[in-house]
Amino acid sequence: MYPDRVVSGMRPTGAMHLGHYHGALKNWIKMQSELPCLFFVADWHALTTHYDDPSVIERSTWEMLVDWLAAGVDPSQATLFIQSRVPEHAELHLLLSMATPLGWLERVPTYKDQIENLSSKDLATYGFLGYPLLQAADVLIYRASQVPVGDDQVPHIEMMREIARRFNHLYGKEKGFEEKAQEAVKKLGSKRAKLYNELRTEYQQDGKDEALEQAKAMLDDAQSLSMGDRERLFGYLEGSRKLILVEPQARLTVASRLPGLDGRKMSKSYGNAIALREDKSSVEKKIRTMPTDPARVRRTDAGDPARCPVWQFHQVYSNNETQEWVVKGCKSAGIGCIECKQPVIDAIVKEQEPMHERAQQYLDDPSLVRAIVADGNDAARKLALETMRDVREAMGLAYT
Ligand code: TRP
Ligand code: SF4
Repeated sequence: MYPDRVVSGMRPTGAMHLGHYHGALKNWIKMQSELPCLFFVADWHALTTHYDDPSVIERSTWEMLVDWLAAGVDPSQATLFIQSRVPEHAELHLLLSMATPLGWLERVPTYKDQIENLSSKDLATYGFLGYPLLQAADVLIYRASQVPVGDDQVPHIEMMREIARRFNHLYGKEKGFEEKAQEAVKKLGSKRAKLYNELRTEYQQDGKDEALEQAKAMLDDAQSLSMGDRERLFGYLEGSRKLILVEPQARLTVASRLPGLDGRKMSKSYGNAIALREDKSSVEKKIRTMPTDPARVRRTDAGDPARCPVWQFHQVYSNNETQEWVVKGCKSAGIGCIECKQPVIDAIVKEQEPMHERAQQYLDDPSLVRAIVADGNDAARKLALETMRDVREAMGLAYT
């Protein structure tokens, strides 16, 4: 009923690195040409953990936007904006909070994990508990169908689906819904109406998902329907409520995982990262001094790629032929580690060249980034307001 739409955000807590690029950004760049995409800087989410030092957030916001543009996020295809510039996210967060059981938030796995892992910070705050609910508002406010995220975020998406379902259940009620829905069925015309009723029964009695999908596709084609009737018929398929908010799907980033220079997760705080726009000479130095299989003390000692972080870089950056050369040369001590690292250096430098180029115009003229984001904020806000109109009305807040 609602158009396919992609929403994703990132927290501005520091410069982006190649781990972010391979883990998330590459996926965004692929999706932007396939579907309408909204990508935003989650500055409020950054505040939940950095409330005591917000200065890094402002700086990182603009840096991160340049990084996105440098990586190839294209503002003529995707909408780029800043979360706090669309204050309706906060309004929806507040409204959703009214009916969100505390247990749902306390149960989210990242909640307790983070409180323990970031023990230097006091995260026993109201804002931090609400983190996944704010995230739900970010997505639901655009009625997004897909959310590209890493697997750590899947529980957050599942919770959003529950929030949307609960919202529709509580507020999608309408006086005389059943009668209005049946009137709307008639408007489909007799052939379609018959099919609709059959598919609805098949889905509701036998749980046939194909029947649901087929009915939805039919409604998508039925152009004569008004928005309200369409909403009713979608809701009537699954139960007896209007669907005001849409349950999104997680779209897992299948992108190759690039570890840090030491084989652990790439992270600025571990000092094992290569920045997205790192200098060429610095890339060379970092890869040359990267640890390798400790068994290769001397050039003549054989090694095993499975024990070497450089090999994981080859898996991301090298073709089969080069990978075979590495495995053979490493296991037979036929190649040295410096030699082995060269194709990785070359590939990273080549990957980064267009990024440096694209970034340059934005560094020369930062007002370009401001203008892109100003347009994005307006476009996002327009969509957010459409949903909020329905949400306010459903919750009895549409005073005139
Ligand atoms: N929680 C996400 C992360 O840490 C960032 C985020 C905030 C987000 N709001 C979102 C991601 C909405 C997807 C959709 O990566
Ligand atoms: Fe690692 Fe390559 Fe050295 Fe083998 S040859 S230990 S894979 S850097």
